Amino acid sequence: MTNSTPGAPPLLTQALRLPNGRTIRNRLAKAATSETLGTYANNPTPSLVRLYRRWAASGVGLIITGNVMIDRRALGEPGNVVIEDEADLPLLRQWASAATDQGAAIWVQLNHPGKQSGKGLNVSNLAPSAVPFSPEMEALFETPREATVAEIEEIIERFGRSAAICKKAGFSGVQIHAAHGYLINQFLSPHHNQRTDEWGGTTEKRRRFLLAVYAEIRRQVGPDFPVGIKLNSADFQHGGFTEEESLQTVRALADAGIDLVEISGGTYETGVAQPKKASTVAREAYFIEFAEKVRAAVQVPLMVTGGFRSVTGMDAALRSGAVDVVGIARLMVIDPDAPASLLNGLNSKQQVHPIKTGIKQIDRLGLMEVLWYELQVKRIAAGGEPRPGESGLWALVKSLAMNGWGTFKTRRLRARS
Ligand SMILES: Cc1cc2nc3c(=O)[nH]c(=O)nc-3n(C[C@H](O)[C@H](O)[C@H](O)COP(=O)(O)O)c2cc1C
Repeated sequence: MTNSTPGAPPLLTQALRLPNGRTIRNRLAKAATSETLGTYANNPTPSLVRLYRRWAASGVGLIITGNVMIDRRALGEPGNVVIEDEADLPLLRQWASAATDQGAAIWVQLNHPGKQSGKGLNVSNLAPSAVPFSPEMEALFETPREATVAEIEEIIERFGRSAAICKKAGFSGVQIHAAHGYLINQFLSPHHNQRTDEWGGTTEKRRRFLLAVYAEIRRQVGPDFPVGIKLNSADFQHGGFTEEESLQTVRALADAGIDLVEISGGTYETGVAQPKKASTVAREAYFIEFAEKVRAAVQVPLMVTGGFRSVTGMDAALRSGAVDVVGIARLMVIDPDAPASLLNGLNSKQQVHPIKTGIKQIDRLGLMEVLWYELQVKRIAAGGEPRPGESGLWALVKSLAMNGWGTFKTRRLRARS
């Protein structure tokens, strides 16, 4: 899809025109990183405006926000922002314009966690079916209850309403979070979705929830507003969502008019965006092989996220023709100005390293990394600089304390309202 001649500017700098006519100023995107910078009542805060102003100033083309929830009763973490009514429109407008005023597109990632929500945060967690977590996760996550059909229909409608509010607030688009083991991914997965009604039982029926969410969003935002999706290439779980089903899902979404498909992989149980093969981990662009398969089968703009670190790696992915947009997450947290270098053909001075606490059981879960990075995000949002050398163990202790306090405050506020 792209080509370049010697001496031409890096492919990263080329603008991308989406099928709906909207243009993104270059091929570099900030992939979603959960900020947990909302209040404990889940409203947006000025910290988000500061954070996204800093990221947009880097010259990045597209920014996808950390996951925003569509229902206050279904949080993934304390401090998630929830968009379910227009009460926060003034601050949402500031958040959107922090990026758009500087020429970057900003899409809100809309999510429902389903069963992937820590114990005690919500009154109860629903999922397609009441399937327990793996034994090593059971201490942190409870077995969900099966969603009723009325609940499924309400959630679909909520996705549409949240998207319409994002549009009204001036965001440039929305992204449906269908990856990483959250509710939509749970519906897609034969392991998590064991329903025998219209919402499960066959590949088509498991896909129905996602397609209904997309159709409702489209109905509420109209044909011109960009709607993308983040989808797993596979869950890497025995009996989970497979590459073949993922490919069929991309085809169905492309037929329905999706504007951009971002490819990732994994779940909390198997590791988010962590491929299983050591050879893939060692290479940049974890999910490019799957992108190549999609490209051969379906015509739809593709973004690939996971493992990109260098200009050469990014350029090679674009040059391969399998990728239209390169997504970076962790690099933009430890170096919020990274795009300014990358778009000038230079690597970031920072390097992404695995974050470890030294406690085997915890390091195996991979959740630790997210907590470490969230702390760095908070530093940037407070107007400071990330600390790439910060100890993993210290970050864990601090995050557990903050999470515990956040869960307590969220529950207290709920009890009072
Ligand atoms: C702190 C943190 C928070 C994340 N939050 C989200 C999120 O809210 N939504 C999402 O789709 N992915 C999330 N991710 C995954 C990233 O978007 C990305 O897929 C993953 O980090 C791999 O890309 P990278 O190698 O460039 O970091 C998060 C990752 C980190 C480190």
